[in-house]
Amino acid sequence: MAGYILALDQGTTSSRAIIYDDRARPIQISQKPTVLSTPKAGYVEQDAMQIWHTQISCAHDAINQAGLLATDITSLAITNQRETIVVWDKRTGKPLAPAIIWQDRRSEDWCQNLRQHKVEGSEMSMEQHVQSITGLRVDPYFSASKIVWLLENHPNLKDRAQRGEVAVGTIDSWLMFKLTGGEHVIDITNASRTLMYDINKLEWSEELLAKFDICKKILPKVIASDGDFGRTKKGLFAKQIPIQAVLGDQQAALFGQGCVSTGMAKNTYGTGCFMLMNIGHEVQLSQHQLLTTIGWQRRHNNPQLLAGATEHPSFSKLVKSGQRMLTPAKREVTYALEGSVFMAGAIVQWLRDNMGLFNKSRDIESLAREVESSEQVVLVPAFTGLGAPYWRSDITASISGMTRGSTKAHIARAALESIAFQTYDVLTAMQKDSPSPLTELRVDGGAANNDLLMQFQADMLGVPVLRPKDTEITAKGAALLAGITSGLYDEATIDDSWDLDKRFEPLMPAEEREEHLDKWHQAITKTLQ
Ligand code: G3P
Repeated sequence: MAGYILALDQGTTSSRAIIYDDRARPIQISQKPTVLSTPKAGYVEQDAMQIWHTQISCAHDAINQAGLLATDITSLAITNQRETIVVWDKRTGKPLAPAIIWQDRRSEDWCQNLRQHKVEGSEMSMEQHVQSITGLRVDPYFSASKIVWLLENHPNLKDRAQRGEVAVGTIDSWLMFKLTGGEHVIDITNASRTLMYDINKLEWSEELLAKFDICKKILPKVIASDGDFGRTKKGLFAKQIPIQAVLGDQQAALFGQGCVSTGMAKNTYGTGCFMLMNIGHEVQLSQHQLLTTIGWQRRHNNPQLLAGATEHPSFSKLVKSGQRMLTPAKREVTYALEGSVFMAGAIVQWLRDNMGLFNKSRDIESLAREVESSEQVVLVPAFTGLGAPYWRSDITASISGMTRGSTKAHIARAALESIAFQTYDVLTAMQKDSPSPLTELRVDGGAANNDLLMQFQADMLGVPVLRPKDTEITAKGAALLAGITSGLYDEATIDDSWDLDKRFEPLMPAEEREEHLDKWHQAITKTLQ
């Protein structure tokens, strides 16, 4: 079957459209930056119309530049920055406020208050209770507190919401509303990042909606990741293209990296850094400050549904005991453990744009290589607080350990090291939660192309780091799922299209590694005090 998949990848700092051929190879990419604004301390916003306009123009450009027609496109896939919230007028389709970005901390007070509550009639903390329903933590990172803030702070919004005039959604939801001309839907992986979705029952949590005072009618309908999301509206393209896969960007990366068996993990170095491990068909709550999230829900061509899962041996006992009790809907769902780090590539951007240390992001590698070590310099990148495994939104970033001889090269090197250290902390937590040790880590995202960082990463983790040739894996993951749904690809395409670019083996002597980790943890301890 001939055809192409058009994948839209709406990230925190850019909109992208990538076209994949019938063997899941990228043949054309179009990218446009989006502007983040920080009007107040802790606020991070974007213009939702700019998100839409850049995204649709990338889609048209990619088709044109590839020399294709819309009629050549078999299906459309969407992957997106998660947790970010858009609120719009259902009738006009116009945003009613700037999009509140996942990094925004304005709702910390609300979260702080909720954390102090106990579940009525029990000694259980609200924090634990929310985790047992959603798999997440009470943190401004997730969507619920952003929606509460909007409803409480925007004139008339609550009343209009009650009257059914308002729609709220994550970025996938917003794009689908615009693409289809009015469908108000969300994919399940994005829903699982809102702090309002019950990942056990697979539905919006009525209990949490009541507790948060959010009326259900403003929320989108939840659809499986390969479900029927509708078609693009007439006139947008020369053909009404079916939308056949939608996944949050980190879940899409897990799929695109071929981590379809339990125990497999990936780390994406984007704006932030997100490590996800496939944990199979049962919810497993983290005991070590990680999140449990929905990796994907597959309704079509799911070999795990048809023939039973091919599981990592250490998980087979867990999965087998669970399989007897799993409902068909649960068998469609694959869960993941996640460690979310808020600043990774964004640290490089900050050094470039705010500090003027270099002109292009990729120049950080040559600058960092000018020195053999960062010496005692440590950068703790708590620019928007720290995510996993620390979860502190009240702290700020710092650079410490500088002497008269410190140069910008030491700071550049310390910045790269801080990305690897944060990943080390997440992997350590994941190793404790996981029934089997992680033996390798698949990596992707822009900063995964930095060899210095990847070697240091392998040295710190003590496990090999595997980088595929195609590091734009988030878009590819969504494209693979749309391709399988539409029949353009089969399951084998997931593995067949994964080509190793470079394997980084841990090489650093143990003593040196310990020195690095000690230095980092001392700085973290000071920051957390
Ligand atoms: O959870 C936030 C994440 O989805 C953002 O991804 O690629 O924009 O850093 P990215």
